[in-house]
Amino acid sequence: MLVNPKLPTIWFGGDYNPEQWPEEVWTEDVRLMKLAGVSVATVGVFSWATLQPDPDTYRFEWLDRVLDLLRSGGVHTILATPTASPPAWMAKRYPAMLPVDAAGARFAHASRRHYCPNSPDYRRHTRDIAERLAARYAAHPGLVLWHVDNEYGCHNAACYCDQCAAAFRAWLRRRYGDLDQLNAAWATAFWSQRYGDWSEIDPPRRSTADNNPSHVLDYRRFTSDSYLECFLEQKQILRKHAPTVPITTNMMGWFKGLDYFAWGREVDVASWDNYPGPFADPAQVAAKHDLTRSLTGGVKPFLLMEQTPSQVNWSTHNTLLRPGEMRLLSYQAVAHGADAVCYFQWRQGPGGSEKLHGAVVSHEGSERTRTFGEVSELGRELRAISEAVAGSETRARAAIVADWPSWWAAEQLPTSTRDLSYVGEVQRYYSALWRLNVQVDFVSPSADLGRYDLAIAPTLRIVTPETRDALERFVRGGGTLVLTCGSALTDETDRALLGGFPGRLRDLFGIWVEELDPLRPGMANLVRVSTPRGDWQGEYSCGVWCDLLHLEGAAALATFAQDFYAGRPAVTEHRVGKGRAIYVATIPEPQCVNDLVGALCRELGLESPVPVPDGVEVTRRWQGDRPVTFVINHNLFEVAVPLDGRYRELIAGVEATGSLMLPGRGVAVLA
Ligand code: GAL
Repeated sequence: MLVNPKLPTIWFGGDYNPEQWPEEVWTEDVRLMKLAGVSVATVGVFSWATLQPDPDTYRFEWLDRVLDLLRSGGVHTILATPTASPPAWMAKRYPAMLPVDAAGARFAHASRRHYCPNSPDYRRHTRDIAERLAARYAAHPGLVLWHVDNEYGCHNAACYCDQCAAAFRAWLRRRYGDLDQLNAAWATAFWSQRYGDWSEIDPPRRSTADNNPSHVLDYRRFTSDSYLECFLEQKQILRKHAPTVPITTNMMGWFKGLDYFAWGREVDVASWDNYPGPFADPAQVAAKHDLTRSLTGGVKPFLLMEQTPSQVNWSTHNTLLRPGEMRLLSYQAVAHGADAVCYFQWRQGPGGSEKLHGAVVSHEGSERTRTFGEVSELGRELRAISEAVAGSETRARAAIVADWPSWWAAEQLPTSTRDLSYVGEVQRYYSALWRLNVQVDFVSPSADLGRYDLAIAPTLRIVTPETRDALERFVRGGGTLVLTCGSALTDETDRALLGGFPGRLRDLFGIWVEELDPLRPGMANLVRVSTPRGDWQGEYSCGVWCDLLHLEGAAALATFAQDFYAGRPAVTEHRVGKGRAIYVATIPEPQCVNDLVGALCRELGLESPVPVPDGVEVTRRWQGDRPVTFVINHNLFEVAVPLDGRYRELIAGVEATGSLMLPGRGVAVLA
């Protein structure tokens, strides 16, 4: 499905900030954009103070000229609402629109994203500016997408002000109805935390010892919802004026502050900003692409809204991407379902904190740079593969169950161990699938898993009755489900699941976890495989967390080999209905996970579409029943990829058969 049939290609371009430059530069920009094959420019992201220099003055004429100029050069517009950076006058006039931290300190107007999502003054002004932009540009022939705000939650993940307190109370009333329910859900009998009146409830501000974890968890939900409300308000306005123009907001991969599954239901197309450093682990990047694509269901394309063409400015060491790396990262995005490759930013800014951030056009200003050359070459290539790729689908047969509330609760202090990283565990299992070139969707815990053969739920701490039902249906219907330690400990408000762990999943997995043993750094145990499967055999090290469990119908596939629980089960399997529920009671070394997941995939017939050497990534996208196969060599050396038939390599436009030779960082797109 195309993002917008008006532009049926892989979109190519980036953030464009003409307000930072005199007009004569704009004409030069359009000349250079044409040269680089740019098809979209994201305009207006931080333009609020230029568009509305004071409360009663609006200046749109410059933006009219920008959009028309772009259009005349064949460049379409992604028009942003500028609400990520309110003008200085707003903060002076309404100081309460500035956010407040957990210790009660108010942030100043001196940077960006300095707003409280629940400030009525801020919200009123965002509606106003969105309305004016929508009314003026809805029918502009160059407009292909609305881009609302910028990276919601970035810099100010939560605000703790009094306006938020009031909105939080209203949110809680809607959620719990009455105070008794809330007191029960938050277990406020503990430490005398009982609330007798709604007005007694504040945000979980800085306190003496650990805050009530249920309170904190609900505040995270509330914060995510607050930002989402900001988005929805603008979405409604944009939709009213331009019913056929899709709407997005740029997300950030594993951003802890917002429950992106909820956001995925509201955007027309998902988009995100990818900033891996040079030499980044490609499996980590791949996971974030898959996550973003999964937010709108896993099948239809997403947009790579930002990446640097060369380097960032905000890291400790802003090392350049090496030659070919940006191209590789761009193809990796497309291989995982992106229908856009966009940069931050088009032209390097003359001032401000990002003046040394990489850009397609450098301060030098010409097309003679290495970066400009790499970008325009890529632009040419993407045009060559566009027709076959744009709008095509991704069809994964494996899923990873991910859950923001579980992430929040698992890492909320105090915790069983500070060494367990939720995303780290998700990535451990994702990486095993990635190495096998088995494509993955991420799904929320109560999603229907019917179309998958394999589902893995790492450290799924929170299990609701709906989650239990969804997982059980999947297993009974023939699915293979893997669950790992730290799962099913609590319910939706992080109250312990009573009756023995893994709580609601005890029957499904046929086990009872009696004790949890998080290990200190330097402590380890061994997983000894008793029922080998494929390459999964022998012994593997494990650490961080061990569950001491009893079998209640499951069989042990492996046991711990050391310590006072040597001989107790470490990996179990329970056959239920037509499927099986496998529990991994520890955090094993990656090789163990790779071998176990490898064995399961082999049993299920999940394999790489093309057999490839290590370090070579393969994915498929589908145009109807025609696959397009991406082969990406992350190695720095040449590899040979044996092809099973006749293909057309779309980038070079040549026939490919027999052995495909891919140089280091080389890419092939095979139809
Ligand atoms: C993104 C942001 C851009 C720019 C970029 C720099 O997070 O959306 O506006 O700041 O980072 O890498």
